[in-house]
Amino acid sequence: MKNHNFKFKNNILFVENISVSSIVEKLETPLYIYSKRAITEAWDSYYQAIKNRNCLVCYGMKANSNLAVLKEFSRLGSGFDIVSGGELERVLAIKADPKKVVFSGVGKQSWEIEKAIKSGIKCFNVESESELYNISKIAKNIGVIAPISLRVNPDVDANTHPYISTGLKENKFGISINTAYDCYKIAVGLPNLEIVGIDCHIGSQLTEIKPFIDSIEKIILLINKLKASGIQIKHIDIGGGIGIQYKEESCISPKELVDKVFAKLEDNDLGDLQVILEPGRSLIGNAGILVTKVQYLKKSEDRNFVIVDAAMNDLIRPALYQSYHEIVPVIKRDGAKKEYDVVGPVCESSDWFAKDRLLNELYEGELLAIESAGAYCMTMASNYNTRGRAAEVIVDDFNYYITKKRETIDDLLRLESTIS
Ligand code: LLP
Repeated sequence: MKNHNFKFKNNILFVENISVSSIVEKLETPLYIYSKRAITEAWDSYYQAIKNRNCLVCYGMKANSNLAVLKEFSRLGSGFDIVSGGELERVLAIKADPKKVVFSGVGKQSWEIEKAIKSGIKCFNVESESELYNISKIAKNIGVIAPISLRVNPDVDANTHPYISTGLKENKFGISINTAYDCYKIAVGLPNLEIVGIDCHIGSQLTEIKPFIDSIEKIILLINKLKASGIQIKHIDIGGGIGIQYKEESCISPKELVDKVFAKLEDNDLGDLQVILEPGRSLIGNAGILVTKVQYLKKSEDRNFVIVDAAMNDLIRPALYQSYHEIVPVIKRDGAKKEYDVVGPVCESSDWFAKDRLLNELYEGELLAIESAGAYCMTMASNYNTRGRAAEVIVDDFNYYITKKRETIDDLLRLESTIS
């Protein structure tokens, strides 16, 4: 297993001190199960990196925004990176401190900006000149000063899947490093804005430090240019992006990254800047599994299909990015292995979880755990094929807590009506 809080005891898969089968017996499948201890330990890997430093972690909640998960991170001391008014409502719902919230995203709407200003967030990560004008206008109407950073697009290749790469000039994100200086100058001239920082986020699931450092070097040049023209910033936000192990990837440790970032800043007399991090996946990705049941085995001319009861609507990453997720039977056994295609019931050929995967011979009715399902799985779930979204639970030692009920078909139909 990719996280030691999920492990086999006498060949039975446990999450901390509860067996997966015993939870499924009550709650059925598909079911997301998270480990509270895995969450705490992931947080600790960041805490070790930031303690005694002027550094703030703002959890990128798009990875997993369940209120119980957010509450844990808030309790541990995290702030939040949000990208919508809905995510802001989640922060407020758990009574987290808005002063530790940064707001990213290329398409912030006026109501979202207004709500964020009124809530007193730490900073807007502004992604275009037009957005700058809009925030200034809204702040002026309310009669307050809005704190802003510009999200700079440094044109650095993050060496990750093209769909989750964000720091190249062809990507829609941020303001080009070449025009950011002019944009800061525009911000200086606009009413009701306070320039507080600079921001970048170059992509997700990064497995090397170099792209981070390359972009920070470019940003340092810009900070110095701004300084020379009298624009002082207080923080540098380096975004999220640290990858996790899905298969055999090597991983960056938060401490290694943070040490290198501070060393770079100190070398450039910028050691007094606050550093903000926006990790999502590395805080929650390997803290969760998706449990699914084998519905049917189906042999075609050249394939062994395992049709499970979870589908792309529950976990879309393989369909969208051809991503790899480890799959293990919940009851481990020895014996013959076979190559399987693990697929869901949805009417799309892209509805698969694994192809040509060597697994112990499987049986109808048995449970499988899809690993590394803590990040960008439940938050990307949909109702395609009128399938209710899965339930979620968090295990804490010998107990588990239902943190999201399973959606019923009634839930799905409630908002709809016919025209007569
Ligand atoms: N900050 C910003 C502005 C972001 O856009 C993101 C993620 C993060 C922080 C957190 O990045 P992380 O630490 O999780 O890499 N659905 C894709 C991932 C999309 C990432 C979007 N932005 C996936 O399943 O791989």
